[in-house]
Amino acid sequence: MSSIKPLIAGNWKMNGLRADMDEFAAMAQGFSSELASKADAMICPPFTLIAALANHPDRGALAVGAQDCHPAASGAHTGDISAAMIADCGATAIIVGHSERRHDHDEGDALVAEKAQAVWEAGLTAIICVGETEAERRGGTTLSVIEQQLAGSVPLGATSRNTIIAYEPVWAIGTGLTPGTDDVAEVHGFVRSFLEGRFSEEGTAMRLLYGGSVKPGNASELMLVPDVNGALVGGASLKATDFLGILRAVS
Ligand code: 13P
Repeated sequence: MSSIKPLIAGNWKMNGLRADMDEFAAMAQGFSSELASKADAMICPPFTLIAALANHPDRGALAVGAQDCHPAASGAHTGDISAAMIADCGATAIIVGHSERRHDHDEGDALVAEKAQAVWEAGLTAIICVGETEAERRGGTTLSVIEQQLAGSVPLGATSRNTIIAYEPVWAIGTGLTPGTDDVAEVHGFVRSFLEGRFSEEGTAMRLLYGGSVKPGNASELMLVPDVNGALVGGASLKATDFLGILRAVS
């Protein structure tokens, strides 16, 4: 049994208006001290809601994160948001290298690594995402794709405090499909060995999240897989009943 405390992180993606702050409040209120003793929880809303949620009077132990940042701390980058700005709003973590950023915005490993550095410089935790496409899984190249993404996206300064790795198979995101537990175990074991090889005991202590169609009904099975230390949840993090259901399944 791992001594790493699990983290259930919700990624709201491009969803969430001020009216949805009530849903966040319901999550925060349901995240009891009993649940919080067994798992940490975080919601990553769109930029527009970070300050409001991070400063919400009912927030309690429910942490707030962001979904992306620019690699620079400030400057002439119209429309972009820096890690320092996100920290200034009260967030404590930033997702970088999500597959939707990699695919929609052509973000490569080198840029993801620069963003992770920027997250650390702002004093926050980087949640660095990796994951293979359906074609890569079918072609049998999953582990080499993951190795390349880890090697290119996780900078050498990574520690168990400043970095969390999320394995999200692209084909499992938003599809209702999940890999078998043996497949999840294979990839997470591979990620753990890679991190230990590069960061020794920091790699042993780093949190590894699984993401891709995690729901209350499959969370406990997925969270029992060795080297799975929590989940990065998309659709099921939008409703308090689902998000709390996942937290209860894990705790
Ligand atoms: P779903 O849980 O909706 O499959 O999304 C997963 C994800 O991309 C979280 O970052």
